[in-house]
Amino acid sequence: MRVLGIETSCDETGVALYDTDEGLLADALYSQIAMHAEFGGVVPELASRDHTRKLLPLIQQVMDDANVTASDIDAITYTAGPGLVGALMVGASTAHGLARAWRVPVLGVHHMEGHLLAPMLEDDAPEFPFVALLVSGGHTQLVAVRGLGEYELLGESVDDAAGEAFDKAAKMLELPYPGGPQIAKLAEEGDPKRYRFPRPMTDRPGLDFSFSGLKTHTMVTLKKAKASGEMDEQHRADIARAFEEAVVDTLVIKCRRALDKTGLKRLVVAGGVSANTRLRERLSLELTKRNARAYYPRGCFCTDNGAMIAYVGAQRLNAGEQDTGPMRAVPRWPLDSLVPPKSSGI
Ligand code: KG4
Ligand code: ZN
Repeated sequence: MRVLGIETSCDETGVALYDTDEGLLADALYSQIAMHAEFGGVVPELASRDHTRKLLPLIQQVMDDANVTASDIDAITYTAGPGLVGALMVGASTAHGLARAWRVPVLGVHHMEGHLLAPMLEDDAPEFPFVALLVSGGHTQLVAVRGLGEYELLGESVDDAAGEAFDKAAKMLELPYPGGPQIAKLAEEGDPKRYRFPRPMTDRPGLDFSFSGLKTHTMVTLKKAKASGEMDEQHRADIARAFEEAVVDTLVIKCRRALDKTGLKRLVVAGGVSANTRLRERLSLELTKRNARAYYPRGCFCTDNGAMIAYVGAQRLNAGEQDTGPMRAVPRWPLDSLVPPKSSGI
């Protein structure tokens, strides 16, 4: 089955073509980051308009790259949520419109299920069951994954997501949006011994996260440094380093606990923050110690992309799911409300 996947939940227009026998045939991405950077974050209305401009040309590009025509496509899948409602509607309406024109089934899928299963696109894919750490701009979650649609939420952020915390701390450090890669780069020059930031919610049992206090701590540290007149480039790098270390350490501690709690030996790390090199280094050290393994999507599939949507959609379409009603755009949609394909009534 050849499935066209469409992702438009936030600030990236992603399109891909996935074949259940041959694997990924083509994928293309248009990032709106440069447009939003001017405003320091994603402007929802601009995001919707830009998806409208870019989506059809990207679909054409992917079809050309894969050397296929409409009659070679068996189904269409799109991100139905969670995300920005206007942005989601662009992908949903395009998917439903094309599906009607091409007379093929169409299915709306969950964006985070896409991130969760993105490592399945790699040659060395993880087997079920595994623990997944989902760390993106909108989510920080630890999930026990026992199969497609069998997700037990082990813990999540009670306030800011890890990526959001990176973005906010970067803003304080006057770094451009998106802040994660910028902080990571600046942190490379930082002295890890100058500051030690708190590791929130690690002093008590449990698998939930909280990153908003860390944001306040960063602001207070910056203010103090500025007031004392000792703020320079090195100082900014030291603060970035302390911030990154605190987030990474917190994530590593919670992953360790999640593996202990479930007794599982495989950890999938996905979502934009999974691109963080320091996080990867620390996790691989930790996992080697306990004879466990981490699985990541390839670099370009850590952040939003159409390939993960095409993949997840293909699995569910293959199991008989499809949208039977109107298009869906669901801004808030808990991951653990998903069910395996057979018992789903979509
Ligand atoms: O998954 P994603 O592309 O979009 C959402 O669904 O949110 O994740 C984007 C987030 C942003 O907050 C960005 O700052 C963060 O991932 N990010 C990083 C890195 N690359 C992207 N955070 C830390 N280190 C990175 N290298
Ligand atoms: Zn995402």
